[in-house]
Amino acid sequence: MSERLEDIAAAMVADGKGLLAADESSGTIKKRFDVIGVESTADSRRDYREMMFRAKEAMTRYISGVILYDETIHQKAADGTPLVDIIKATGAIPGIKVDAGAKPLAGYPGDTITEGLDGLRERLADYYKLGARFAKWRAVIDIDAAKGVPSATSIGSNAHALARYAALCQEAGIVPIVEPEVLMDGAHDIGTCYEISKATLTKLYTELYAARVFLEGTILKPNMVLAGKKSGKVSSPEEVAEKTIKLFRETVPAAIGGIAFLSGGQSDEEATANLNAINAIGPHPWKLTFSYGRALQAAPQKAWSGKSANVAAAQAAFAHRAHMNHLAALGKWQPELEQAA
Ligand code: 13P
Repeated sequence: MSERLEDIAAAMVADGKGLLAADESSGTIKKRFDVIGVESTADSRRDYREMMFRAKEAMTRYISGVILYDETIHQKAADGTPLVDIIKATGAIPGIKVDAGAKPLAGYPGDTITEGLDGLRERLADYYKLGARFAKWRAVIDIDAAKGVPSATSIGSNAHALARYAALCQEAGIVPIVEPEVLMDGAHDIGTCYEISKATLTKLYTELYAARVFLEGTILKPNMVLAGKKSGKVSSPEEVAEKTIKLFRETVPAAIGGIAFLSGGQSDEEATANLNAINAIGPHPWKLTFSYGRALQAAPQKAWSGKSANVAAAQAAFAHRAHMNHLAALGKWQPELEQAA
C-alpha cells in the first residue's frame, strides 16, 4: 500500500468503510468490562481485542483501520502472532492513540487540556516501526454555560495542541486524526452544540494552517451536532444531518482527507441512523464515515462477556453493527435492516 499521507487518509474513508476505535485506555476498558462482569487484565484485554480483530467478515468488508492503545500495539495473540499482523492481514490499517488524556486546565475550572506533546516525536517514530500509519489525538470540550465552560482559552489551547500533534505526525509519515470532541453530556440544546462546535472547528483549522499541516493528509474526527443528553431532548436524524452539514460547510476545508465521526454516547442505532441521514442528504465535498468506539463495540462486548464459547456470537454482533454503519456511510441504511438481524 502507498505510504503517501493523502493515500493513507483516502484509504481510511474509502468504499463505505470506517474505523474501529479500540483505543480505550486501561481505565476506560475496565469500566466497559465491569458492565459485562469481566476482570480487566492484560490477557482478558488481549483476548477481547483478538476476538474483534479476527472477526474476518466485519474486518475485511467494513473496517478500514483500527485505533489501538499503547498496550495493544505491543501485544501478541494467544498463538504468538502480533495483533498488528492480524489487523494487517485483514487489509485494515493499524493506528495508535498518542495523547495522554484530558487533564484539568489550570485557572479554568471545568475546562480540560489534552496532554502528551512531550516526547511525541520519539514515540511516533517507535509507533511507525510497529506498523502504525495513522494516529489519534482527542481534545475534549465540555459545555456548561452556567460555569462559562468552555472558555476561549480552552478551545484555543486544545486547537494549538492538536496542530502541534498533527505536524509531528506528518513529519513521521503518520496520518493524524484530529479529534476535537464537543461532548454531548451536558444539558445544552442543539443550537448551543452548533455554536460551540463552530467556534472549536474555526479555531482548529486556523491552528492547522499556522502549523503548516498538509490538510489532504489529515482525517477529522468530529462530534455530530446534537442536543445534550441532560436536555431531555433527542434530535431527529434529519435535524442532526442538516445542522452537522451546515456546520461543516462553514468551517471544514474541502481539501481534508475525510471525516470519521465519533459516537460519543449515542446508542448504537442512533449513531447509525444519524450517519445515514448525513450521507443521505449528499453529495458532500468530503467522505463522511464512522470511527466508533462504543457504538461498534457495545453489542459484541455483551455477546462475548469473557467466554471463549461466545466468540462466534460476538463476532457476528460486531459484523452486524459494522455492516449497518457501512451502509450508513453510503446513505443506504434502513431501520428495517436492524429488525431483520
Ligand atoms: P466513541 O465512539 O465511544 O465516542 O469513541 C470514539 C473515540 O475514539 C473517542 O475518542
